[in-house]
Amino acid sequence: MSVFENILVKKEGRIAYVTINREQQLNALNTKTIEELMLTLTDLASDIDVWGIIVTGSGAKAFVAGADIKEFQSLGEEEGRKLSQLGSVKLMDRIQYFEKPVIAAINGYALGGGLELALSCHLRVAVAEAKVGLPEVSLGLIPGYGGTQRLTELVGRGKALEMIMTGGMISADDANRWGLVNHVVAAHELISTCEEILHQIFSRSKTAVAAAIRAVNAHGDKQKNGYVVESEEFGKCFETPDFEEGVAAFLEKRKPRF
Ligand code: COA
Repeated sequence: MSVFENILVKKEGRIAYVTINREQQLNALNTKTIEELMLTLTDLASDIDVWGIIVTGSGAKAFVAGADIKEFQSLGEEEGRKLSQLGSVKLMDRIQYFEKPVIAAINGYALGGGLELALSCHLRVAVAEAKVGLPEVSLGLIPGYGGTQRLTELVGRGKALEMIMTGGMISADDANRWGLVNHVVAAHELISTCEEILHQIFSRSKTAVAAAIRAVNAHGDKQKNGYVVESEEFGKCFETPDFEEGVAAFLEKRKPRF
């Protein structure tokens, strides 16, 4: 297990468990935590034994209760912009474009930067008691780690604007109905549900899963035509060993060995 100051990383089987570990501060994301997460992602990207990641928060109360508000006090416009770019581009984009599946296990409050962290993951599973929201307007701010974009993409403009302008929290069940989280489960089933999803993904072709992540990500990318990216990725799949194995296994009526 690698231990940083603010996060715990445990690798077990093919899964890396990344836990934001500032329980007394409700796992608020300070700069140090963001930097440690970035280092962890670099390590996990190149670790061939890690096939997928579960991100969660320490304790039973919070996933992540936001960016660390205590760090905001001394910031001006330029520092604010830089902080947003650090969180948004270097961390959240990195997770969104990560080529192994990343699931947010939302074990409690996911607010502000915490919800933005969850939104950047490929999937979200929440406990029934979780509450999610983007309360930045109550601090005179707006979401700065991609929340205005990713939330809008996920739940649509009307609901995104309602959450962002009111700054209110919604329940896990409402988040599920709105399409913001994929599943709501009892607390004791949170990690096992994420593991089950990952194991199902692991039984598929890794190269195809990575291609699917790239193609889906092209959807919100104004520099790209998603249909063109999909065609390119589709075409490339035909040249992979996994395609040969997948089709052979189907024809031989057996499970593929990817
Ligand atoms: N940044 C820094 N510290 C935070 C934090 C954040 N985003 N969220 C919580 N904390 C700290 C609190 O300051 C407190 O620390 P202290 O004991 O040193 O005073 C500790 O975590 C516990 O939080 P507390 O507010 O006492 O818990 P609560 O149960 O009364 O309330 C919340 C829980 C989540 C409703 C409340 O902490 C909250 O509103 N947090 C801020 C959420 C937010 O605005 N996030 C967006 C930031 S951009």
